[in-house]
Amino acid sequence: MNSKQTKNTPITILEDVFGTTKDGVTVKRFKMNNENGMEVSIITYGGIITSLKVPNKNNVSEDVVLGYNLLSDYEKSTPYFGALIGRYGNRIAKGKFSIDGKEYTLQANDGPNHLHGGVKGFDKVVWSAEVLNDVGALKLSYLSKDMEEGYPGNLHTEVIYTLTNDNVLEVFYRATTDKKTIVNLTQHSYFNLSGDFSKPILDHIVSINANKFIPVDANLIPTGKLKDVANTPFDFREPKKIGQEINIEHEQLKRGLGYDHCWVLNDQNQAMRFTASAHEPNSGRLLEVFSSEPGIQLYTGNFLDGTLPNKQGGTYAYRTGFCLETQHYPDSPNQKEFPSTILKPGEVYSSKTSFKFSIK
Ligand code: BGC
Repeated sequence: MNSKQTKNTPITILEDVFGTTKDGVTVKRFKMNNENGMEVSIITYGGIITSLKVPNKNNVSEDVVLGYNLLSDYEKSTPYFGALIGRYGNRIAKGKFSIDGKEYTLQANDGPNHLHGGVKGFDKVVWSAEVLNDVGALKLSYLSKDMEEGYPGNLHTEVIYTLTNDNVLEVFYRATTDKKTIVNLTQHSYFNLSGDFSKPILDHIVSINANKFIPVDANLIPTGKLKDVANTPFDFREPKKIGQEINIEHEQLKRGLGYDHCWVLNDQNQAMRFTASAHEPNSGRLLEVFSSEPGIQLYTGNFLDGTLPNKQGGTYAYRTGFCLETQHYPDSPNQKEFPSTILKPGEVYSSKTSFKFSIK
């Protein structure tokens, strides 16, 4: 990494207008620049990271996240490109869960299941924004009202994106409620570290700090059992290419159409620790993900099919992006053995994930 950096050089944050929603709401964009060639653009619609420019081994900064140039494309159809996900990231079986004996029903927006917060989740609402210049951060806030998308309780949510001169983008989540509810927030960036969105991500070399993963049923709901990764294609304890075993005969790969699973991260004590990495050898870019969360979903863009426009004039073909979504396990509200996702009044939900970029 460039060594000229100093802790004292401020991050610059510039604001402009990204577009207007079909309901007439102005969507702002914030561009955060550090002194090592990294530039992150975030919009108030969905808290979406629309672009993330990172230097390659020749010090050329290129965009490494999938997304669109136009707000109208995000409004039309998006597989959650770059978005904040809430109130509950990942799936809830049949959209049903109970708290203290009272059953709640959420929208089934993914076959029989509820996915990523519903029809209008946190990825499709306009957040309030505040620039925190002194710490190089952007604070987004959103009040999700009692029973919005079927979830109980008024949930005050804050997400703080911080860029540092060490090429780290940190995402800090905080939420409070006035009624018992469930919360599982995440960030849904699709990475392609080559900077070329026409290239599949199969040559990225990935590692995941997990001895176990969570097998799923035919609807991608956890069976409830955790499985050792040893001797399965889910073993990423030693770095290997995403594509190395993605197409082998394996029931879990068949169900996910590739990798679309949550790994049970090692060292679960709520503290930040290394969770996963991805290295793209041609560009030299290395992404390391640190988090306080117990799980991480690796999704390999198995539903991308060449129909959505990319930012470089083409379309997003099969497996041209991958997500590393730090989170609690899917369907936790219905799985007693999984760490709880319940938030009670008086408690504070807090969670942190850092995306660190360097050259290897
Ligand atoms: C899920 C995929 C889903 C994708 C949305 C991921 O987080 O695991 O199953 O298709 O989001 O496009």
